[in-house]
Amino acid sequence: MDIEQAKKEAGIAAVQFVESGMHVGLGTGSTVKHTVIEIGRAIQEDGLEVIGVPTSIETENLAIEHGVPLSNLTELGGLDLVIDGADEFDPEFNLIKGGGAALLREKIVAQASNRMIVVADDRKRVERLGAFPLPIEITPFEWEDTLKRISLICGVPANLRVIESNGPESPLITDNGNMIVDAGVGDAFIDNPALIESQLLHLAGVVEVGLFIDMCDTVVLAGQTGVEILHRSDE
Ligand code: A5P
Repeated sequence: MDIEQAKKEAGIAAVQFVESGMHVGLGTGSTVKHTVIEIGRAIQEDGLEVIGVPTSIETENLAIEHGVPLSNLTELGGLDLVIDGADEFDPEFNLIKGGGAALLREKIVAQASNRMIVVADDRKRVERLGAFPLPIEITPFEWEDTLKRISLICGVPANLRVIESNGPESPLITDNGNMIVDAGVGDAFIDNPALIESQLLHLAGVVEVGLFIDMCDTVVLAGQTGVEILHRSDE
């Protein structure tokens, strides 16, 4: 199975958890985009009735394009579930997210959801987090100083994310007008995800950290042997 096919299978399979009447958080990325498209198809063809809350402008546009009705947390009060992608998940279903720079909105939507389902291909499954550099959303004000402090806390180099095609001096700006720092250079450096999250969140200038701890209870995982539904062991 190639990676694109795996993403599609995982994304579509997750729609089995969506029932009529639900309020559903819609994640961001190349895997969950298949979930959004499949929800749109089920609305048009099978009479599924759901309301979505998007986690990025990209997902908002995709949902509109596929006819998924949208609202927000203020209107709905809370969500039955959120379906989203991940960059890594460990045996406790702690996640690294933010490869698509949407981590702040993703975390706001996830914390308002009764349940979080991750859709992923099997490259995302790891024993220890951090080989995928940890995305951290920071304010533009004095970003160099914040980046230096992040690097000290994490004990690894940290880099400002840039849009390569716009040149090395073009920082990526998030949907919220902030920047992204990626901490780490390929080693699984995160021994204690809760501790590092709390240390980073104490730093002024850090808006949100791409560690999602105790949020995900189910992973829809696609690989060579097809799609597997994994449940967190303490669920
Ligand atoms: C978006 O900011 C991310 O959290 C994505 O959900 C994550 O990077 C997974 O994306 P893919 O499904 O594209 O790998």
